[in-house]
Amino acid sequence: MSKQQTSFDKAGIAAWFAAYSDDMHRDPYPFYRYLLEQEPVLHLEERWTWIVSRFEDVSRVLKDPLFVREYRNAVPENQEMPSVSAEWKPVDGMLNNWMLFRDAPAHTRLRGLVSHAFTPRTMERLKPVIQEIADFLADGMAEQSRPDLIASYAFTLPVIVIADLLGVPSEDRALFRNWSHAFAKVLEGVDQSPQYVEQTIRATNEISAYFKDLIAQRRTSPREDMISDLLAAQEEQSDVLTEQEMIATCVLLLVAGHETTVNLIGNAVRLLLSEPGELARLSERPKLAATAVEEALRYESPVQMTGRIASADVEIGGRTIRRGQFVQVMLGAANRDAAQFAEPDRFDIARQPNRHLAFATGAHFCLGAPLARLEGEIALRTLASRFPNMRLTDDKPDWQPNILFRGHRTLPVLL
Ligand code: HEM
Repeated sequence: MSKQQTSFDKAGIAAWFAAYSDDMHRDPYPFYRYLLEQEPVLHLEERWTWIVSRFEDVSRVLKDPLFVREYRNAVPENQEMPSVSAEWKPVDGMLNNWMLFRDAPAHTRLRGLVSHAFTPRTMERLKPVIQEIADFLADGMAEQSRPDLIASYAFTLPVIVIADLLGVPSEDRALFRNWSHAFAKVLEGVDQSPQYVEQTIRATNEISAYFKDLIAQRRTSPREDMISDLLAAQEEQSDVLTEQEMIATCVLLLVAGHETTVNLIGNAVRLLLSEPGELARLSERPKLAATAVEEALRYESPVQMTGRIASADVEIGGRTIRRGQFVQVMLGAANRDAAQFAEPDRFDIARQPNRHLAFATGAHFCLGAPLARLEGEIALRTLASRFPNMRLTDDKPDWQPNILFRGHRTLPVLL
């Protein structure tokens, strides 16, 4: 056992989940290696949580219907539900309408309504649109002496795409940055300060009012966008989606569009630039963009973990997880499991096969995966062909202080 591994004790792990640690933001992998090798199914009693990290166990939890999303589906009917303060109710109400936090049948209904927006046909239609945005942003980078790849490119591209898909007018896009960041903090679930509570409630009220208004506009004058499509579906079948569910679905898609693909593009570029010649290799063989995207998803997973609740006593890896207990599955660790991936700590842009869990698996498999993959491929191909000599500045990597979403706050480059 290495020295580094012995430094993790249960108190240290609990502290990691309870508070930020700069070390973990910079490099969570020694900790993941410890989990994989020493504590693959770990019970953190004081946090009523299990941490599951091996590829096989993570897949099992995500696929097994005994692990659910809604607490009320996990515990006996007569069990009291955790109470929510009056001021937090709007936030709770919004999250309860996200398909991500629902089980069937509500999950199936909510997911079914927007799934057509991510079909291969829609992706074909979006290709030239995304390419145009990537070219436009690359032009903007070319005019700067030391562009920040995140602000100028990786963040902006997915935000424009998702806002267009939903039908958010371009002049309103800037509003969404702070709202989306507020929800990213809720999902991380670490900060509980009064300031955070106040910001989240404000963001929820503002974004709900915004979408209520936009939905009303589209009801009277429909356009070619997702909100108009959802309204048309609602007219055909009146119980299909309530207004609150429609607002929540728009917010979920916007948050997903803001907080994830930016990290895929940013992480992939930094990894490519860390190895001399890798970007040039991609510009010579653009077909490698598809496997490079998969490898970046595996190696630095933009979403590091997710959670479920056991609805019965279940045995995983020789330990018994009891009904009603929470399970944190570590996607970022599972994607570095040597039992699944040869040389898991080597970044190899041609790796195949590469059946990673960056988009999870099972009923909640990322709905936006085809869009994220397409955006990632076009983004990398465009950068490789426009700036084959791009390099990192000497600055240290500037990781976001977030244990759920792994990505860079800034990434200055030289072209
Ligand atoms: C690289 C980018 C992305 C990554 C790594 C990612 C990752 C994930 C993961 C891990 C989940 C499953 C969570 C769980 O099972 O608990 C998920 C679900 C989801 N993602 Fe993504 N995502 C990405 C991009 C997107 C985009 C661009 C969209 C849409 C605009 C999107 C929409 C969704 C939705 C709606 C769900 C919920 C699906 C369900 O509950 O059935 N994602 N994503």
